[in-house]
Amino acid sequence: MAGFEDEVLSRRTFAIISHPDAGKTTLTEKLLLFGGAIRAAGTVKGKKTGKFATSDWMEIEKQRGISVTSSVMQFEYAGKRINILDTPGHQDFSEDTYRTLMAVDSAVMIIDAAKGIEAQTIKLFKVCRMRGIPIFTFINKLDRQGRPPLELLAELEEILGIESYPMNWPIGMGKEFLGIYDRYHRRIEQFRVEEGDRFLALNEAGEVEGDAPIKENALYGQALEEIMLLDEAGNEFSEKRIANGTLTPVFFGSALTNFGVQTFLETYLQFAPPPQGRKTDEGVVDPLSEQFSGFVFKIQANMNPAHRDRIAFIRICSGKFERGMSVTLARTGKQMKLSQSTQFLADDRSTVEEAVSGDILGLYDTGTYQIGDTIFSGKQPVQFEKLPQFTPELFVKVSAKNVMKQKSFHKGINQLVQEGAIQLYRTWHTEDYILGAVGQLQFEVFEHRMKNEYNSDVVMESIGSKIPRWVEGDTVDESLSSSRSLLVKDRFGKPLFLFENDFALRWFTDKHPDIKLYNPMN
Ligand code: G4P
Repeated sequence: MAGFEDEVLSRRTFAIISHPDAGKTTLTEKLLLFGGAIRAAGTVKGKKTGKFATSDWMEIEKQRGISVTSSVMQFEYAGKRINILDTPGHQDFSEDTYRTLMAVDSAVMIIDAAKGIEAQTIKLFKVCRMRGIPIFTFINKLDRQGRPPLELLAELEEILGIESYPMNWPIGMGKEFLGIYDRYHRRIEQFRVEEGDRFLALNEAGEVEGDAPIKENALYGQALEEIMLLDEAGNEFSEKRIANGTLTPVFFGSALTNFGVQTFLETYLQFAPPPQGRKTDEGVVDPLSEQFSGFVFKIQANMNPAHRDRIAFIRICSGKFERGMSVTLARTGKQMKLSQSTQFLADDRSTVEEAVSGDILGLYDTGTYQIGDTIFSGKQPVQFEKLPQFTPELFVKVSAKNVMKQKSFHKGINQLVQEGAIQLYRTWHTEDYILGAVGQLQFEVFEHRMKNEYNSDVVMESIGSKIPRWVEGDTVDESLSSSRSLLVKDRFGKPLFLFENDFALRWFTDKHPDIKLYNPMN
């Protein structure tokens, strides 16, 4: 291992945020190929291609058809060690998807050029924004006809409220895609052109030198005009603003044809931050400090009843992990030895012997950890700030199928709620149980684990999607509770209303301006 500091500074830990089908898997595969981490594309996610690796863990995915193994992928490129954290989408969207964003130092946002900004991207973007981390945008599928690039940039600003700086600009699109004008490297990268002739240098005036055929094409002229417009009226490039997340550098490309991906990766590595300091209750932990510390951002339960093991994912925030080391769990003060560690890499799991700040550890867990837990080595206690609560959107009423088995029902529910698998609410008077989640999968996992781990069959009745808003102060007039604005309490006893829709929320706030409502995520 190189020196500790050099190791830490070489880490780049990020997640890809996107709406399903924008090309996250394809881009991830291409990045891993550059790093030599996988042999062939099509191995990151087996869901579509039907290829599965053989580890037990994968077996679960096979049964359920969801991808969890690719939780963390690590590869090296140009002297940097890159950790890509997966953010499950589709039906496996859950609070874990949000929490993963608490463990990264930057994010890559993929947008489908034909679709623009979509719902799930907005949700994930908000979490990145809240953290103030740098966001790099990749506008994908340029080999297909998409929307005008200027329109896509306008959408970034209007919908997401982030300013952008196009690092490159497409010349044509779809069948007429000629390549990208690379403003940052001052060159043109030509599509469908052999490696040797692919790059054309630009002169002082920003035009192709000599008499390359591309100059004759009207699309080239149009791109030059648009770039002039960007130079004059667009945002200025600012490394500082990229770093504080207020300006997103935008790259155009096509992940499927592997076009623009390498340029993207290299430029990303130039501007993406190494591991950043993390806040504790008392200050900030320096990633270069020698004392080991980290926090649990996700717990993956094995869905196979024959394997009760779980994996707690830990983001290392400082120091070096060594197998067998002793650490303290901040919540309980309990000391333990970290001997069983694992790390995921695309399709095979390997044991980690050493890891440093910025890396992710998977620890086999038999119920020790909870989401948000801090662990640290040495004598100096460390306690990282609590992870935020993400606002659930889907709700179900839940009860035990067998009324004689209330004990195991309560035990299971309380443990799963503490672990962070699901959120629990009670109706104001009747104390009925209501569960909240950000994705349907959380309910399925809950049901499955209640049965398999707590021997408790549950009955769940969907009450649909709701907009939860907490009430400031601890008292509230319970006569305001109705089916359109159901009054409940969270597990800390704090009152909130579950509004049926936007309309019900607006109606309520108009009618009761004295009641202050808030959403902890905003
Ligand atoms: P996701 O992980 O974000 O959900 O997206 P994924 O990479 O699986 O890509 C979704 C679909 O878009 C796939 O096609 C993929 O091949 C296609 N795609 C990704 N990048 C590009 C691109 O740059 N250009 C074009 N034209 N298509 C792209 P599919 O037919 O749904 O799946 P598959 O059967 O090819 O895997």
